[in-house]
Amino acid sequence: MKVRKAVIPVAGLGTRVLPASKAIPKEMMPVVDKPVIQYVVEEAVAAGIKEIILVTRTGKLAIEDHFDSHYELEAELARKNKTALLAAIQNIVPPEVSIISIRQPEAKGLGHAVHCAASTVGGEPFVVILPDVLVNNGGDKTNDLMRMVVEFENTGAAQIMVGEVPDDKVQLYGIADCGGVAPEFGESTAIKGLVEKPRQDESPSNLAVIGRYVLPGKIMSLLADGKPGAGGEIQLTDAIDALLEMEPVEAYKMMGDTYDCGEKLGYLKANLAYGLQHSETANGLRQFINALANEHE
Ligand code: G1P
Repeated sequence: MKVRKAVIPVAGLGTRVLPASKAIPKEMMPVVDKPVIQYVVEEAVAAGIKEIILVTRTGKLAIEDHFDSHYELEAELARKNKTALLAAIQNIVPPEVSIISIRQPEAKGLGHAVHCAASTVGGEPFVVILPDVLVNNGGDKTNDLMRMVVEFENTGAAQIMVGEVPDDKVQLYGIADCGGVAPEFGESTAIKGLVEKPRQDESPSNLAVIGRYVLPGKIMSLLADGKPGAGGEIQLTDAIDALLEMEPVEAYKMMGDTYDCGEKLGYLKANLAYGLQHSETANGLRQFINALANEHE
């Protein structure tokens, strides 16, 4: 079955990037010239997604506004013949892609947030994208999410994106047990178990879940039965661990670079990495970084 829908949970409070995220959603913080949320929506569109479901909360309306039309601004840019800027704000998503939002009334965890989209997903397979996590495939024509969608459509096995993390960071992630077999970059391998935020001495591997999932519709009924897990929250990881008792689930090893924009250092790194890829900023930024490096030698 074709994967047409994506669920993007955007109801988080952004406490790791306060005070920046006090009055604006953390997903609206810019990386070079676009808010973080725009990168992940563009990634979904590139992977063939046609319907994007934002799971949101009070105080996050700026995200919906960003993907809506802005009549006065468009009229003004048109009047001044600023066609490139006009195109940049009009064509954020192509016309055949729709963005809708639903609310998560209580902060009960990622699994609960995804389940809030159950009736809209309607039993179809879908993608989950965690918006803090940027995946940079460096302008390649196929992004990692696209490859995961193709693998799901070919095999029917849920795809969970993983990447290796240092041993002392495993307690920050969902960790996959692939029976000692690590997938090759850009390839998938069967998962035997999945555990949310294990202690370092109990972790089955250092293959961490990196915020991209392709899941069958039936995960929603497993989430509906979800009990609070790590941190007292209903965890998506636990529902996927239950799913793999019923059918194959695969770990897909990412090829791109990843940045966690939900924390300060990751956000700064993302700005540097994307700034070095942007035609307006690449040269100047490279010179600045080199000058800084020389100063601190
Ligand atoms: C969430 C998931 C976790 C995943 C992580 C990074 O955790 O629960 O399994 O590894 O995102 O993508 P959070 O960072 O929200 O605590």
